[in-house]
Amino acid sequence: MSRFGGRVAVVTGAGSGIGAAVARRLTADGALVAALDVDGDAARATVADAGGSIAVVADVADPGSVDAAVAAVEQQLGPVDLLAHVAGIDADRALKERLAEHRRAVERGDGERGFRGLVDLTDEQWDRVLRVNLDGTFYVVRATLRVMIPRRRGAIVTTASTAGMSGNAGVAHYAASKGGVRILTQSVAREVAPFGIRVNTIAPGATATPMFGRTPDGERLVAGTPIGRSADPDELAAAYSYLLSDDASYIVGETMNVNGGMVIQ
Ligand SMILES: NC(=O)c1ccc[n+]([C@@H]2O[C@H](COP(=O)([O-])OP(=O)(O)OC[C@H]3O[C@@H](n4cnc5c(N)ncnc54)[C@H](O)[C@@H]3O)[C@@H](O)[C@H]2O)c1
Repeated sequence: MSRFGGRVAVVTGAGSGIGAAVARRLTADGALVAALDVDGDAARATVADAGGSIAVVADVADPGSVDAAVAAVEQQLGPVDLLAHVAGIDADRALKERLAEHRRAVERGDGERGFRGLVDLTDEQWDRVLRVNLDGTFYVVRATLRVMIPRRRGAIVTTASTAGMSGNAGVAHYAASKGGVRILTQSVAREVAPFGIRVNTIAPGATATPMFGRTPDGERLVAGTPIGRSADPDELAAAYSYLLSDDASYIVGETMNVNGGMVIQ
């Protein structure tokens, strides 16, 4: 008997990195997976690779697009039982490079230790990250719960970050978006546990994905991690599969750190 035995799962951000690994893993564990991504080619590539189910194109930052996607999944596979909401974006590359250059300058003893991260952050940079990461989590979880609550069953895992646990100088908007995901998850977990629906979040650390590849000083983060290496996305996927499964039947509102010891709480 497989872990999920034909239950219907939506995986957002399934076109790349952690989301693609989660889609593969849930498919292997017996779920019918809807691989959702704003990048349709990437979502279709994941479905071809995972060997099952359907690709769905949607922008998690657009509530109409999300609602239509959840309706399309219900029509093609049946009502959603499981949600792994993984889609998210990082701070833009120019900002991360400016931060990395600042760190190098401080190490050379050349320049002030302080970094004018927040005061130089533009409204557009703030809005872009908050819209996808925090608003997007609201839209996806809301649409899914509308299907789960009447059926009195379901499990949801959202995606936070180590940055959302203890803050991250230079990318306060990203950290705030992920801290928001965590508190949103905890609040909703309290709301819907009485309906038989479990909601938890995973806070990944340095994980070897295209997003992490865009981090200019990623090696520094990995070097500061007790385990001494980045995670393989499959190691994250194992945690999503566990929290979505009945093996985690008494775990509600938890933040699971999957970070090699980068943040221990
Ligand atoms: N990789 C890491 O080290 C790391 C660390 C902490 C947290 N995270 C979080 O894990 C999640 C996955 O990260 P990843 O490293 O796999 O990133 P990634 O960039 O490799 O993949 C993200 C996927 O999300 C999709 N996506 C982006 N915006 C979208 C939108 N508006 N609508 C639908 N899909 C959208 C992208 O097209 C892409 O396929 C993100 O939420 C990220 O913040 C990653």
